[in-house]
Amino acid sequence: EKGNFRHFMAKEMHEQPEVVAHTLGHYIDMANETVRLPEDLPFDFAKLNRMCIAACGTAYYAGLVARYWFEALARLPVEIDVASEFRYREAPLDPNGLMLVISQSGETADTLASLRYARDNGQSVLAVVNVPTSTIAREAHVALPTLAGPEIGVASTKAFTCQLATLAALAVAAGRARGVLSAAEEKRLVRALIELPRLMNEALKLGPTIEHLARSFTQTRDVLYLGRGTAYPLALEGALKLKEISYIHAEGYAAGELKHGPIALIDEKMPVVVIAPHDSVFDKTVSNMQEVAARGGRIILLTDAAGARRAALETEATLILPDVDPLIAPLVYAIPVQLLAYHTAVHMGTDVDQPRNLAKSVTVE
Ligand code: M6R
Repeated sequence: EKGNFRHFMAKEMHEQPEVVAHTLGHYIDMANETVRLPEDLPFDFAKLNRMCIAACGTAYYAGLVARYWFEALARLPVEIDVASEFRYREAPLDPNGLMLVISQSGETADTLASLRYARDNGQSVLAVVNVPTSTIAREAHVALPTLAGPEIGVASTKAFTCQLATLAALAVAAGRARGVLSAAEEKRLVRALIELPRLMNEALKLGPTIEHLARSFTQTRDVLYLGRGTAYPLALEGALKLKEISYIHAEGYAAGELKHGPIALIDEKMPVVVIAPHDSVFDKTVSNMQEVAARGGRIILLTDAAGARRAALETEATLILPDVDPLIAPLVYAIPVQLLAYHTAVHMGTDVDQPRNLAKSVTVE
C-alpha cells in the first residue's frame, strides 16, 4: 500500500535509504568492514579477462555506472550493451569471461535472451535481480539479489539504487580478489557504502525545493541532462525518468559530447540539468557548463558545497547535495534526478505510477 504517499513512486523513492541499507547488509560484513559474497561462485574474479554486461532501460544505466567501478577498482575490462542489441550481435565471448545481466523483474525478454546466449556459449552468468523467483534468477549460474522489495511504480527508483549498491559491493570484492585494492582500501570503500542511508536521507530533504523548481519544467518541451564519469549514466537515467512519466522530451549526454551536436539546441528556453559532484572530472564539466551559460542556457546544477563554490557561475538553480565519496555519488545523485522527474509529472497531472504505453515488465521483445 501507498501509506501516506500519493503515489507508489513517491513511497518507493523514500524507501531508498532503508532498502539500500538492507541490500548492503546482505553484501557487507559490518563488523569487519569487508564485502561478503556467496562462497560458491562458479568463477574466480582473479582469473577473469573481461566481463560483459547486458540489461535494458534503467537496469542498463546501473550497468553503465558499474563499468566505471569495475574498470577503476578492479582493472577488469568491461563491455556493455543494451540486451536487445547484445542478443543478436553474435558477440564473440572470451573463454575466461563473465556475463552479468541486471534486471529488476527478472523477466525482461531481451535480458533473458542475452543470458541464454552467453550460457549457450559457455560463459558463467551472474544475474543481479530483484525478484528471486524470476526466470532470470533461476537460469543464471548465480543470482545476487537486490533487496528492494516489490517495486510497483513503472518508473524504477529503489530497484535502481539497490542494483547500484549490489554492484558497488561486487566491484569492491572484485578489486580485492584481483589484488588491485588493499585491505585498507576495501575498508575505506566499505565505510563509504555504510554512509549511504544517511546521505540518501539528506538528499531526500531536497524534495520541497525540487517540487518548486519542477513547476518551471512544465512549460518546456525539451530538457538536456549532462554528466561526466559515473554522472553520465545518471544523466541518461534522469532523461529516461523524465520522459517516461512526464512525457517531456529529454536527452542525456556525456558532457564532453556537448560540442559535438547538442550545443546547437541551447537557447533561453531549454533547461540543462548538469550533474556534477566535486570529483576528479568536475572542472571539465564546469567548462561545458560555461559553454551553455555563454549561450544563455538555463542551468540547473546538481553539486555539493565545494562544487557550488568552485563553479562560481550564474545558474537558474543550484541544488546542493551532501559531500560524498566518489564511489557512492551515483546513489546519492539518483535521488534529486528521480525527484525532479516525479514532481514535474505530478505538476503535469500525468499518471505517475502507470504512464501511458509502458508496462512494468517487458516480457516480449
Ligand atoms: O525489470 P527490468 O529491470 O529488466 O526492466 C528493465 C527496463 O524495462 C526498466 O528499467 C525500464 O526502463 C523502467 N521503466 C525505467 O524506469
